[in-house]
Amino acid sequence: MPGPDAGPSPIPLAGVVGWPVAQSRSPRLHGHWLARHGLAGHYVPLPVAPEDLAQVLRALPRAGFVGLNVTIPHKQAVLALADSVTDRAALIGAANTLVFRGGRIHADNTDGYGFVANLRQHAPDWVPAAGAAAVIGAGGAARAVVASLLECGVPELRITNRTRLRADQIKAEFGARVVVYDWAQAANMLEGAATVVNATSLGMDGKQPLRLPLDALDPGALATDLVYTPLDTPFLRQARDRGCRTVDGLGMLLHQAAPGFERWFGVRPQVDDDLRRAVLA
Ligand code: ATR
Repeated sequence: MPGPDAGPSPIPLAGVVGWPVAQSRSPRLHGHWLARHGLAGHYVPLPVAPEDLAQVLRALPRAGFVGLNVTIPHKQAVLALADSVTDRAALIGAANTLVFRGGRIHADNTDGYGFVANLRQHAPDWVPAAGAAAVIGAGGAARAVVASLLECGVPELRITNRTRLRADQIKAEFGARVVVYDWAQAANMLEGAATVVNATSLGMDGKQPLRLPLDALDPGALATDLVYTPLDTPFLRQARDRGCRTVDGLGMLLHQAAPGFERWFGVRPQVDDDLRRAVLA
């Protein structure tokens, strides 16, 4: 708690903790919202090495911090350092949002919320229950996507990953609606799918594209990519060529940030074109 000299209402501080953290777009994103809403507050990048994380997390609330975003490589480690963890963060196995309150650290994961909110904003007629969802990839981001799609009521969740074990683990943890496809047979999982998601890092600037024949994909399906550098990935272009609706991955980043901002600064911010432009600038 602040001492008497700090005054009754210190300016709230938040930030993103990572190692490295210079690449994070979160300071620009939250900075835009702070300015837009005329709020007193600051949001800063915090480069913190893994061996220092525990000490830094304990100290920040005493320096006026109301919470943090968490990025690579700390998303798993913060679960063990938090005083409470939401069920969804525990199930996903990672947290991206911390709230400091009453000297305690609360950990949540809003990535799945951001994923679904992005689809609802840009494809309002998307019906998750209309058919199976096909998820390519089984890393940390994929786990958040799987949790949110199951919560939305997809009848079947198909998943494939280069390292099959990680997909098998998701099936073991997330239950009966999950069906694992071998990486070599990934194209088969597109048949009858209503939603298809690239949750690998393939297609990112400087990486190989995702190579997946889309011949089995229904042109009525919705395709989305978690990669947003570039915004228009080879996978999204391929899906559009097939006739599918596509939604890029930037909106997931924007929407996952909103619940944290609201908890820290007391205003629910808008995710709109102004914000997209500010983050892309
Ligand atoms: P994130 O938190 O972004 O999900 P991650 O946990 O490192 O990051 O997961 C990256 C995903 O991209 C994984 O599904 C990974 O496959 P593996 O589990 O086999 O590593 C996938 N990926 C990365 N590079 C890949 C490549 N060259 N070929 C196929 N899949 C790849």
